[in-house]
Amino acid sequence: MASTPRPRRSELATPASNDGMFAKAAASDADLVFLDLEDACAPAERESARGKAADALRDLDWGRTLRAIRMNAIDTRWAYGDVIETVTRAREALDVIIVPKVRRARDVWWVDTLLTQLEDTLGLRKRIALEVLIEETEGLENVGEIVRSSDRLEAVIFGAGDFSASQGARVNTNFDPVVDYPGDMWHYARARVIVAARSAGIAAIDAPFPNFRDPDAYRVACERAAAMGYVGKWAIHPSQVELANTAFAPTTAEIEHARRVVAAYREAEAAGKGATSVDGMLVDAAHLRHAETVSTMARLLEN
Ligand code: GLV
Ligand code: MG
Repeated sequence: MASTPRPRRSELATPASNDGMFAKAAASDADLVFLDLEDACAPAERESARGKAADALRDLDWGRTLRAIRMNAIDTRWAYGDVIETVTRAREALDVIIVPKVRRARDVWWVDTLLTQLEDTLGLRKRIALEVLIEETEGLENVGEIVRSSDRLEAVIFGAGDFSASQGARVNTNFDPVVDYPGDMWHYARARVIVAARSAGIAAIDAPFPNFRDPDAYRVACERAAAMGYVGKWAIHPSQVELANTAFAPTTAEIEHARRVVAAYREAEAAGKGATSVDGMLVDAAHLRHAETVSTMARLLEN
């Protein structure tokens, strides 16, 4: 793992070309905001957006929010310029670069190497972290090597939008995968991403949810992702931030239950037993691990 985990319950996307939206993003309570140089920017604006993004990261008050950009994919002509220009201009005001459409570990090495040279040249006092988007079928096939490709890597994001296109899914106005498919059409991909992320000790973030006018459906999507082990979800609209922050934080009842499980297990252990119960439910070493996950998350969010 790159460093101490940081909260990522909500990752708010904001087009880097639209400086009118920056102040609202900075004032939001998102754990991470990324100014998007990729698909939210028209191709003609991708170069001019770099300076706007870097200046906003440097000049606005972002509070505790992690400041990120999403660069263009490394097989586009924009990729090197995105990294060089934003890092040179934003310097320590840039915490994280999100790399989209990652297909192989070497895509991450390319960004990592460029960053190492830049940090050295500019004398930066802080290392820039990376997140990658798994949104190509090739990326999902190689996710095991990708999650171990760099010690800058703190999170992997499942990108259902591009992934469905990459898979050739017949998603259209007559077929909404959330409404018309029994179960979760992306369950296999979601499961594979979370297992890879956890095995490498990094965070997994769930996909954007396009219908920002449906908070109830977004909340359900957050809760399902949280149940699988995802620690956060994209927000494509500021109104989704609070919903994600709530859904991915353990509740007071969960924290209290975890505390009781740990206490009961330790008591059983001291008495030479490997298992006990809390409220009529078995508590053994596996339950202790669940309780520790909840407590770790609660501690992370306390700060
Ligand atoms: C995100 O980039 C997605 O394609 O879902
Ligand atoms: Mg995408």
